[in-house]
Amino acid sequence: MIKKEVFKKINEQIKLEYESAFIYKQMSITMATKGWDGFAHWFHEQYKEEMDHAEEMINYLITRGETPVLFDLKKPDLKLEGVLAHFEKAYEHECFVSKSINDIVALAIKAGDYATENFFRRYVDEQVQEEDSVSSIVDRLKLVNGDAGYLMIDRQLGRRE
Ligand SMILES: [Fe+2]
Repeated sequence: MIKKEVFKKINEQIKLEYESAFIYKQMSITMATKGWDGFAHWFHEQYKEEMDHAEEMINYLITRGETPVLFDLKKPDLKLEGVLAHFEKAYEHECFVSKSINDIVALAIKAGDYATENFFRRYVDEQVQEEDSVSSIVDRLKLVNGDAGYLMIDRQLGRRE
């Protein structure tokens, strides 16, 4: 049995994963409409990853004999100008998600729920990677000057698998 407060926190995380997916999908749509196909692809891959995380967490709760509950999702509220602002927002969002994951691990440890602690540690590692990969894109975007440089990075990110 999962303690009530741990269950509640994981359920909220599932909602956050879906909201993250929607944020990235909206960003992907915006990039696609501006002709940045590589950036659109990168955000679409990000969207798929977040959907997978939600799915994995749902399955985890089911495996533990719990019944996950889905919530209303917040509409992505993104009034962003330009490519760099999108990636800066993505970085900010990943830091927010990292904090939320860390809170789950801390709560699981406090509750003596080592299964949940173990399960969520993979996301602790993954968030380190996420923050690093987004911040390095932000750095590269800042390094280049103008659309020619952006086009080069757009091509690179278009190859993300
Ligand atoms: Fe995620």
